[in-house]
Amino acid sequence: MLRQSLRRLVADQRGTACSQIRRGLATVAGQRNFVKIVEVSPRDGLQNEKAIVPTETKVKLVNWLLKAGVSVVEAGSFVSPKWVPQMADTPQVIQEMQIKSGVSYPVLVPNAKGLDTLLSILSSDSWATRQKPTDEIAIFTAATESFTKANTNCTIAESLERLSQVTQRARDNQLKVRGYISVVAGCPYEGAVDAKRVGQIAKELLQMGCYEVSLGDTVGVATPPEMIAVLDACVQAGVPVDALAAHCHDTFGMGLANVLTMVRAGVRTVDSSVGGLGGCPYSPGATGNIDTESVVYALHKEGYETGIDLSEAARIGDWISNAIGRLNSSNAGRAIIARERLQKEKAKL
Ligand code: HMG
Ligand code: MG
Repeated sequence: MLRQSLRRLVADQRGTACSQIRRGLATVAGQRNFVKIVEVSPRDGLQNEKAIVPTETKVKLVNWLLKAGVSVVEAGSFVSPKWVPQMADTPQVIQEMQIKSGVSYPVLVPNAKGLDTLLSILSSDSWATRQKPTDEIAIFTAATESFTKANTNCTIAESLERLSQVTQRARDNQLKVRGYISVVAGCPYEGAVDAKRVGQIAKELLQMGCYEVSLGDTVGVATPPEMIAVLDACVQAGVPVDALAAHCHDTFGMGLANVLTMVRAGVRTVDSSVGGLGGCPYSPGATGNIDTESVVYALHKEGYETGIDLSEAARIGDWISNAIGRLNSSNAGRAIIARERLQKEKAKL
């Protein structure tokens, strides 16, 4: 169904003038033209760094992202520090970062212990006169047994049972819950993944109370037709496109193509990371998330809105890459920074 509408859309585009294509892409089938960017750099972007990134750097990253107009920032994880040491200071990060009204700050929670820790922070009297740091958690499972075992030390069934209890208790405590499915289109341990299985898990996550399910190409191996097959399987399983998000890593350079394909097919939430930071500790060889700068550049060019200031995002991506001693892996970001430098030099002459 989705494949057909995508084919129709591409065919329509060929015979239309450029401006009409842009308008058409933005409004096809009455879809809204706002794409929500979930900025995952403070969590997915940094969780894989070997050297511990100082808490103040993480806090500065979150605060600067707010200035760039980001409306969802994944601020960290309440996972076991034995498994992911880099996220051990998430309690400090969320208590020190700025809280801006209208912005969501989801944090990853894998089990009851993580939720206990978060709830004890949120129940502190210190929030009596100010806004609490978050009203949202993200839970995560995967489409293959091997990845689920490697990432959360349990089977898929055990993970869904555990997450169902976490979700119930989170919702009882007025927390929204977002769900992730990893390795939706390729697993580092098992190879090909059954898209139907992804559809079933997505439906289960919605039924247990997630308001949205993010489809993770954790390994960054998927191509656009494979992502469409996954989307199709989710829709066939009864999950509305509106409740789905694209979470594409860029290992094979397919991230932007996958994101644009998903948006053209109706997805309106995209996860990305400034500077293309990121990786998953349990996905050997996987590189960063698709960079926010390229996603925002491409979406704005195609007539979509994101609310994000592209130049500011490029500056943040450049700064955080330098701060953790990495090359800025955003092509769009590097181009914007180079142009800004040139303009400044010209202005000095
Ligand atoms: P386990 O070893 O089976 O857990 O791990 P356990 O219950 O046996 O506990 C082991 C120790 O960890 C105990 O400490 C617990 O207290 C402690 P000890 O008694 O030995 O001193 N512990 C915790 N400490 C703090 N917070 C907690 C917590 N839980 C246990 N919440 C567990 C099971 C799920 C905890 C572990 O596997 C884990 O933390 N996994 C998380 C891995 C992770 O964060 N992966 C990256 C995020 S997912 C991702 O990146 C994919 C995504 O981006 C989408 C995509 O790209 O596909 C979302
Ligand atoms: Mg990821």
